[in-house]
Amino acid sequence: MEVFQEKSRVVVTCNRGLAPCVAKELQELGHDITGQFNTGVETTGTMSDCVRMNLRLRCASQVMYSLRQFTCRDPEELYRNVREIPWELLIDSEGYFTVNCNVSHETIRSTMFASVKVKDAIVDRIRAIKGHRPDSGSEPIGTVVYLYWRGPEAEVFLDTSGETLAKHGYRRIPGKAPMVEALAAGVILSSRWDHKSPVVNPMCGSGTLAIEAALIATKRYPGMLRSEFAFQHVLGYDATAFLEQRKQLQDCIEEVEDLKIIASDIDNYAVRNARTNAQAAGVTKYIEFSNCDFRDTTIPSTPGILLFNPEYGERLGDQTELVETYAEIGTFMKHKCGGYWGYVFTGNMELGKRIGLKPKRKIEFVTAQLECRLLEFELYAGSKKTHTKVVEDASTEPSTDVAIETEPEVG
Ligand SMILES: C[S@@+](CC[C@H](N)C(=O)[O-])C[C@H]1O[C@@H](n2cnc3c(N)ncnc32)[C@H](O)[C@@H]1O
Repeated sequence: MEVFQEKSRVVVTCNRGLAPCVAKELQELGHDITGQFNTGVETTGTMSDCVRMNLRLRCASQVMYSLRQFTCRDPEELYRNVREIPWELLIDSEGYFTVNCNVSHETIRSTMFASVKVKDAIVDRIRAIKGHRPDSGSEPIGTVVYLYWRGPEAEVFLDTSGETLAKHGYRRIPGKAPMVEALAAGVILSSRWDHKSPVVNPMCGSGTLAIEAALIATKRYPGMLRSEFAFQHVLGYDATAFLEQRKQLQDCIEEVEDLKIIASDIDNYAVRNARTNAQAAGVTKYIEFSNCDFRDTTIPSTPGILLFNPEYGERLGDQTELVETYAEIGTFMKHKCGGYWGYVFTGNMELGKRIGLKPKRKIEFVTAQLECRLLEFELYAGSKKTHTKVVEDASTEPSTDVAIETEPEVG
């Protein structure tokens, strides 16, 4: 079994809401999409393709290479099927592996039981063939095996990522309620930004949105900042080929001299953190940080996009104060940001309504199990009739069910 050369089904998992972004990223990497669901995208590829996906995907969580799909009625059938996989060609008998499961089956009361069955099948096979067995445990520091078993259908994968890809490795200090990096990348890729015009990110917190914008515009991929992946522990892994792929990431970088990204926050500590994080990501030169109230943020005269991720009362902030803050965000966008596309990411739709402008799109995301929306506002310079759209991106078509409006809905 030459997994680094043989094509198989590949499932790329992600946070809910990010599947369309992952699908687009995979297509840009040259992969056909064979299926899409709430938390993932299906394609095909070799393990070498998986290495490339791990290094380049911004919105993914895990890249899973399928080893076997089978009908499974009970734990014994699970054991038999898992034991038929040639594990001695995949896991070093002196090595270490972890089994993770997503199981929902009438014969299984504890996921742990299914994990143990898979582990036993792997260990028994390798010991019978090699006379020695690998160690196993819950720390994902070696080969990672993943079992998906729902009803009569089961599938065993190599999880080629290990630790989630959703973290991009530059966040030195998280700050208050930070956005996970894959989600921030998804927010930007879902916007109409052309990757050239200004990005303004008031309330920047730890700087995730501003940093992801700079990474996207300059074609810096997340794999540049990470050197540990689960695929490195699979037999047949070629360290030289991996280093070559990482070197190619360096060659992809395109410095964009006049890129203008502005990030501000009222909290000086947050601004300092954001600067440290931007430095770790290698993009400080593209981001102008300032410590100020969002209403005092500099708005470049050439329009671009405006990204807000205000507190929304679930984890931080007080609802009544936030009602006023959201209304003021609306007033600020309407009076100071003409010509821009405004975006507000929030987990509280009641507060979202207080912005007082009618969104052109409401894009669904989920963070920390909470339904969130990215609200998109077309902000007119002058009157609606004379408004000219300055940020072009045909890739994201607005939904047709929401009318273009600038008049306040509430407040
Ligand atoms: C939810 S956090 C943003 C998190 C950020 N997206 C990240 O990934 O770290 C909201 C931020 O808004 C800032 N903030 C709250 N009120 C503000 C105001 N009036 N002006 C500017 N920033 C404000 C807070 O200091 C906090 O850092």
